[in-house]
Amino acid sequence: MIDSQSIDVLKSQGYLVMSKPALCNEELLDCFRAFIDTDPAYKERYLQKRFGYAFDGYSYVGQPDSSNQAEDDLVSTFVLSEFYDVERYPSEFHRFLHGGWRATLQTIRALEIEALELLNIPGLLDFYRQNVGHMISNNYYPPIRNFAATAADNTRLSAHPDASLFTIFPFGIDDDLELELIDDSGLSAWQSVQASASMLLYPGYLLELWTNGDIKALNHRVRLAHDVAAERFSFAFFSLPFPQREFVMPGRGTMTSEAYFEAYVGLF
Ligand SMILES: [Fe+2]
Repeated sequence: MIDSQSIDVLKSQGYLVMSKPALCNEELLDCFRAFIDTDPAYKERYLQKRFGYAFDGYSYVGQPDSSNQAEDDLVSTFVLSEFYDVERYPSEFHRFLHGGWRATLQTIRALEIEALELLNIPGLLDFYRQNVGHMISNNYYPPIRNFAATAADNTRLSAHPDASLFTIFPFGIDDDLELELIDDSGLSAWQSVQASASMLLYPGYLLELWTNGDIKALNHRVRLAHDVAAERFSFAFFSLPFPQREFVMPGRGTMTSEAYFEAYVGLF
């Protein structure tokens, strides 16, 4: 699945499109669409502030206080995770959470363990096994003709690194994702990724911090679509520390999960 060659590609290129075919997203897409179609007052019951750890919950376009998207990003998100009971989440998601969620997590965990074994970074696999769980960000981009303004730098989703150890798109990727790639002389350039029915993996800020910058979190964004009437969906899995864990971060001493998130949010 992931071999030493792909790890070399990951290190030199900054991301990896895997040979592994994407999983089917039909079940989750149906659940997410059903939630998106509910009325605003219902969705408000599930805002991030009703959860309280990491990024769980609902965020919407124009929201000033979301911790996982900027106010002008043209996306609504719902974050689900292993950190809360299924019953805390809207019933629209229960079919997936009682259905394909566990098997998808197992697939992702197996890929990450393969990557970590090959990366062979001291202490990181132990840290992962002891402290790391997952969340998924379900992202809905309404048609861009619905909006009078764009996100920063004329984008649909402004540039950012993720908070994860790894971010994985198990259902493949749609058009318009752009990655900031840095060449050997340190020059950076935005490159668009072709829509793909393969899984995509890239490093997040947790891996950058753990390796003291040897492996950089990949900066990414979503460009404006040519088709102004088209909706866009994406589903990104993040590996993150469980709440209230304490661990030793190389070069930084003891750190809690909550302090890690503060450090990440402090980037913006
Ligand atoms: Fe992201």
